Amino acid sequence: MHVHLLGTGAGGGFPQWNCNCHNCKRLRKGEIKSTPRTQSSITISANGEDWVLFNASPDIRAQIESFPPLQPARAVRDTGICAIVLCDAQIDHTTGLIILREHDKPWDVYCTAAVHEDMTTGYPIFNILGHFRGVNWHEVTTDQTAFTIPKADGLVFTAVPLKSEAPPFSPHRHNTVPGDNVGFRVEDSSSGKNLFYAPGLGVIEDRVLEYMQDADVVLIDGTVWTNDEMSRYGINEKTASEMGHLDQSSKGGIMETLNSLSKPRKILIHINNTNPILDEESDERKVLNDAGIEVSHDGMDIHL
Ligand code: MLT
Ligand code: MN
Ligand code: ZN
Repeated sequence: MHVHLLGTGAGGGFPQWNCNCHNCKRLRKGEIKSTPRTQSSITISANGEDWVLFNASPDIRAQIESFPPLQPARAVRDTGICAIVLCDAQIDHTTGLIILREHDKPWDVYCTAAVHEDMTTGYPIFNILGHFRGVNWHEVTTDQTAFTIPKADGLVFTAVPLKSEAPPFSPHRHNTVPGDNVGFRVEDSSSGKNLFYAPGLGVIEDRVLEYMQDADVVLIDGTVWTNDEMSRYGINEKTASEMGHLDQSSKGGIMETLNSLSKPRKILIHINNTNPILDEESDERKVLNDAGIEVSHDGMDIHL
């Protein structure tokens, strides 16, 4: 299967429009060895023609223009995107649905009942799309039953419930239910290889660890290096853990788990603009390089 990383930044992207942090400022001035990143989204195909979009970011328009396989090719109105899968209802993962409203038929959207609830109440994008061609909702269960998507030939999907946080507008905020956040195991049925994708991960439970151990590639929450990164830069008082993201560098952080894995290729995604690992010449990036942990960038391709 071919995994294409459309957007590797966290909410806000890099640089973020109103941010003057050490990274955003230096990126604008050309004083940092790094590249801009759009907001969190990937796309996967086994046949190279039908692409499953994971998360629809506010940057989807530019992301489609950056990747010809998603562009119209067969009819006057057309897309290479055959279905949309959502990991959660966060703004950075769902706002692109509005941008995609001109689709000539209902979108096949795969998400949990908890995300569906947010999308019809706190952030009622599905209701709004009902005034266009609508949403053909396919419920993704949290019991880890594998499922397939018609047209997405050769791919088998499993949703894995994750401990994280529901969005600020969710009825489940601070009182999460299974399905507010899920990761996905995606297996290529011909090669037998699998990817584990989890852009928002607050706690690595044993069940999640097993999926990570078994994966050929883990593409995992790279939001922050330290839990207090936002307050450290004077941005806000929220810690990453309050937002449902596990930091990389602390004891019990993401790096410690990644270091314990022997099988998979390890790649960080959903990287916040404050994260020092965005600077390719930073000490933090060197720590990752030495550990064999990759930092994703927009346009990166993974074949497995
Ligand atoms: C998150 O990942 O926690 C959210 O996308 C934050 C946001 O709303 O930007
Ligand atoms: Mn996010
Ligand atoms: Zn910034």
